Amino acid sequence: MDEPEITIFPAPGDVSHAAAGRIAQGLIDAVTERGVAHWVTTGGSTPGLIYRHLADSPLRETVPWEHVHLWWSDDRWVPPDDVLSNALACWDLLLRDVPVPLDQVHVMPIAEAMATGDPPEVVAARYEVTMRDAGLDLDDAGFPRIDVILVGVGSDGHLFSVFPDSPTWADPSWVQAVAAPTHIAPRVARVTLNPNIVTAARRPLAVVHGAAKASILGELFGPVVDTRRWPAQLMRRAGAAWLLDESAAAGLPSGTPVRREAAAPDTGESGRSVAWTP
Ligand code: 6PG
Repeated sequence: MDEPEITIFPAPGDVSHAAAGRIAQGLIDAVTERGVAHWVTTGGSTPGLIYRHLADSPLRETVPWEHVHLWWSDDRWVPPDDVLSNALACWDLLLRDVPVPLDQVHVMPIAEAMATGDPPEVVAARYEVTMRDAGLDLDDAGFPRIDVILVGVGSDGHLFSVFPDSPTWADPSWVQAVAAPTHIAPRVARVTLNPNIVTAARRPLAVVHGAAKASILGELFGPVVDTRRWPAQLMRRAGAAWLLDESAAAGLPSGTPVRREAAAPDTGESGRSVAWTP
């Protein structure tokens, strides 16, 4: 199996700093090459500090935000001002400080659907129309080639809101409604992108930190490959990048090829390639 690039940092703050730089560079490169950048961001607790780095100098000034389209990998079936909303964190921590044109901030239309009594399936269908109308390049399987995808990984191995043994795999729709999970919080209905969009992405970036994720990383990079069981294993491929802190990386199988960054990338520290031997 062609393995992804894994970089380990001392602490979560270092991971977030590096992730912000990777996202910024991916957006800059996309705009340079194609005049536009499509970024799918994620939910949960992972993106918060990454957003703050992007909203601060120098990244606030170096990213061509006016050419960026922002999408969500998934969101929860909650009101827009609910702390569980994935869009709310982005509005609060990033979008109030960077000039992404409002018609290029593609929030899943959950609030509108709640107001009119429409179900998550209607939101999924509407979001898919919006995404299809955005003129995205498609891969051979007909899924959109997103320039940068930020992925968080659940302790059960999910990504987006694609949980173990998810039915989303059987449906070619780009966007789908997901019933509230019973095994992991938050136990609310979701709307999620199709997991095949991870495979189509130009720069998929997984950001994982904390000791609570060590165990699942051991499974994801272990000898068993089963993306239905662990959808986050879709990110275990050439071209994907994983940024981990030491706590999460402690779960990696011995011998997993990694590089380690000893300090924030802008200090000029170059990572050393070492075979990981916890
Ligand atoms: C969501 C996210 C989900 C998240 C992982 C990791 O809506 O919950 O899209 O896929 O990225 O569950 O979440 P944490 O970063 O909070 O651990």
